[in-house]
Amino acid sequence: MRHTKVKDLLNSTTTLQEVNAKGWVRTFRNNQFIALNDGSTINNIQCVVDFENTPDETLKRITTGAAISVIGTLIESKGAGQKYEIQVNKLEILGDSDAEKFPIQPKNKPSLDFLRENAHLRVRTNMFGAIMRVRSVLSFAVHNYFQQKGFVYVNTPIITGSDAEGAGEMFKVTALPFDNTPRTEDGKVNYKEDFFEKETNLTVSGQLEGETYAMALGQIYTFGPTFRAENSNTSRHLAEFWMIEPEVAFNNLDDNMDLAEDFIQYVIKYALDNCQDDLKFLEGRLLDEEKSKPQAERSEMALLEKLNFVLENNFKRVSYTEAIDILRDSTPNKKKKFQYIINEWGADLQSEHERYLVEKHFKCPVILFDYPANIKAFYMRLNDNTESGRETVRAMDILFPGIGEIVGGSEREERYDVLIEKMKALEIDEEELSWYLDTRRFGSATHAGFGLGFERLVLFVTGMTNIRDVIPFPRTPGNAEF
Ligand code: 4AD
Ligand code: MG
Repeated sequence: MRHTKVKDLLNSTTTLQEVNAKGWVRTFRNNQFIALNDGSTINNIQCVVDFENTPDETLKRITTGAAISVIGTLIESKGAGQKYEIQVNKLEILGDSDAEKFPIQPKNKPSLDFLRENAHLRVRTNMFGAIMRVRSVLSFAVHNYFQQKGFVYVNTPIITGSDAEGAGEMFKVTALPFDNTPRTEDGKVNYKEDFFEKETNLTVSGQLEGETYAMALGQIYTFGPTFRAENSNTSRHLAEFWMIEPEVAFNNLDDNMDLAEDFIQYVIKYALDNCQDDLKFLEGRLLDEEKSKPQAERSEMALLEKLNFVLENNFKRVSYTEAIDILRDSTPNKKKKFQYIINEWGADLQSEHERYLVEKHFKCPVILFDYPANIKAFYMRLNDNTESGRETVRAMDILFPGIGEIVGGSEREERYDVLIEKMKALEIDEEELSWYLDTRRFGSATHAGFGLGFERLVLFVTGMTNIRDVIPFPRTPGNAEF
């Protein structure tokens, strides 16, 4: 007899048939009621054991975390809270779980910190089961969105010789020994003797390679892991995170904003339509968590309301210059409540400023665009009407409530001469990026793209507050367990 998933049992249209369920025991009450979960849904199926006819030896082994198989009759439940239950006829312990040792005990409500240290077991909780199912559905929605629109999925390399963002936050990849490292005459590491015969690192972004594909296939997207060795120990940064990077030939910045907004709304709607039980549970979790916070720090909207709000309202599009004016005149700036006071045009925005704009001023997702050239990456297109001394580029960042920056993107500098000049000014190796420059040498055209940090999206949709809780095995400074 094949076993049936708990989700299908709970959605069953007939009763009284004999069924087999397999899963892990969540709780066992009164020597009689097992709450069984198999990960297919947040909901458990109740299995009622005939304890009088079950040996004590077996009953003792029905402990939280144990894997079991039950065969029994699916019946309508008399108890409140569930439609169906299984009247157990045969119970088999597949794998014991020592009640004294199993770390995830529902009764003592383990802290998120404790669960992070037990990332291999935390997925056995309702919370992490829900988060990881939502994460999976969201990644399917990403592919669905782009595939339906005819975008080509491109796998850009993970090991690369280039620094796409020019920010120097890369993890080196080398097969050289650390002792007796081969050196050049001037004492530098001789990468000619390394595996790739050059210096290589883990990619910080697939954009540059993606651009070359967009300039042939028209519309492409990447969806893969990216790595940043920035030492930001925050609740929004990971050293290894997943990024989605669409790139579209002939799109300008406005098209790029339209695409990003439509895409984000689509994937959120997809999650709302396909993860109802999990999102309802996560909404309850958030309400619970916020009970312990002062009123002023609680969210104004419950999770589902917040997600629907994003679907129903256009993102507010605001230029960097307008944003600086708003920030300069804001109460926290005047009262010196910001850690970084905004005095003049050109200042880089910190997350405190981004969150003020989104959460206090506009109270909706915001797309900031036309940033000062010198705080953005080399590949962004210089604005035509730019004033000298106030050069701006066709960049955009999308800011979300509770998250800050969720998307960064731009129209690209398609003019060879302008791009070369910019690279010279920033001392970016033209030789190393010669292949990239070929897109501008041969058949260059306007194009644009963006990167969405997948974990930041999952954070937003699940209402979690720490990015370490929305990726199975987080990598952060000082932590690479598992
Ligand atoms: O703004 P970023 O650095 O942009 C790029 O990498 C461009 N090449 C994208 C493009 O135009 N194709 O990163 C894009 C997004 C951010 O907005 C943020 O959501 C996420 O990636 N991100 C991180 N997420 C988690 N941990 C980190 N350390 C992140 N750094 C960036
Ligand atoms: Mg950015």
